[in-house]
Amino acid sequence: MKYNIVTDPIINHLKSIVGDTYVLFDKEAFEKYGRDETEDLVFYPEVVVKPRTPEEISLILKLCNKENIPVTPRGAGTGLSGGALPVNKGVLLSMERFNAILEIDERNLQATIEPGVITQVFQEAVEEKGLFYPPDPSSKGSCFIGGNLAENSGGPKAVKYGVTKDYVLNLEVVLPTGDIIWTGANVLKNSTGYNLTQLMVGSEGTLGIITKAVFRLIPYPKHDLLMLVPFYSAEEACKAVSAIFRAGVTPSGMEFMEREALIWGGEYIGDESLQIPDDIQAHLLIEVDGNNKEVLFNDCETIYKVLEDFNCGEVLFAEDSVQKEKLWKIRRVVGEAVKSKSIYKEEDTVVPRAELPILLKGVKEIGKQYGFKSVCYGHAGDGNLHINIIKGEMSDDDWNNKLSGGIREIFELCIQLKGTISGEHGIGYVQKEYMEIPFSTTEINLQKDIKRLFDPRIILNPNKVFL
Ligand code: LAC
Ligand code: ZN
Repeated sequence: MKYNIVTDPIINHLKSIVGDTYVLFDKEAFEKYGRDETEDLVFYPEVVVKPRTPEEISLILKLCNKENIPVTPRGAGTGLSGGALPVNKGVLLSMERFNAILEIDERNLQATIEPGVITQVFQEAVEEKGLFYPPDPSSKGSCFIGGNLAENSGGPKAVKYGVTKDYVLNLEVVLPTGDIIWTGANVLKNSTGYNLTQLMVGSEGTLGIITKAVFRLIPYPKHDLLMLVPFYSAEEACKAVSAIFRAGVTPSGMEFMEREALIWGGEYIGDESLQIPDDIQAHLLIEVDGNNKEVLFNDCETIYKVLEDFNCGEVLFAEDSVQKEKLWKIRRVVGEAVKSKSIYKEEDTVVPRAELPILLKGVKEIGKQYGFKSVCYGHAGDGNLHINIIKGEMSDDDWNNKLSGGIREIFELCIQLKGTISGEHGIGYVQKEYMEIPFSTTEINLQKDIKRLFDPRIILNPNKVFL
């Protein structure tokens, strides 16, 4: 697609819509808004605009449609697939001023919020009322709900409680043409027409800009127990995962970490107190939660029994909330910890849970063949394995030219195992070349037709999801 440049009259028009203070075009702004958390990619926009109302966004999109200028919406910029990068320049539309929790409806266990609310801020606000919004990506302390909606984020609790899409009831959306719509109703059941709400969730800011979201909430579980289980073989750890579910327990967290993931995570937060024997290759971090402590202890006993069939080391049972928080903190920083060690690429593979051991084995074999090392971790209970490929000693040539062949093989293995290529990070900018692995031409064209229907001039977040 060819786009026009942002001229001075257009800048003045943008200023007249949102006010001078909220239109930025200095280098500092471009540095900040030209990046997200995806590798070391950077693309400067031509202008950063910070609207406050859906009506302002509508006017901006109408203007950009008329002038043929690309618009890239952005939440907190914590994305891992480059979805918020303004790869075609144009307008970078920051949603940071949409930061209000509009209503917590305790009668109906619902909340209406704006997309620039930080996920953890929302969780804490509802927790004060005894309510629970479970989706908790590792970046929950900084990511925005809008980004979570765009990527259909998950996190550790997803294994028991589901992902972002499972809590969304209704969305206010500004379409690329400038029309403002609501996608559904504030109800728990809805068989009325096509499900536009779920079409928007996970559409990575390509179909419209979400300006309000209505979520369902659940009562906050009163108790939880957490254990860290060491394994002498990483594949065995993966095998234990499905065995635990088959024994009748649904943990509220079932996270896998290879040896380096746990060690580097500990180092990253400056806590090396965990004793990890030399021959331990991986850990499972397992949490159970609920309202009845006795039931939780029974669940743990069941888990212990299952573990007897596996070759594990000594289980660390978290003693108190301080220890629990430390273990979760280590788990949450793994991605950042690996990033701080080396140039890397992060893949977000997902397979049916019981196929996880085959996936892990395959990843290591493919790594050997292509000469890369990987540190794997992630939401094992969901079959969602984050594969951090480390550049390490790889030559620049191999890294730039051969690695994509290895990634392709990993993705092909995922499809063979009836999985897919992203569980929660999205396709965005960096995975789009691989979309023909999970989808046929017909399937991709159907999706592209939907994009064109919403955004005939392809001005909203172009060059994302599809090649
Ligand atoms: C995590 C992010 C990277 O699981 O998805 O830590
Ligand atoms: Zn994750």
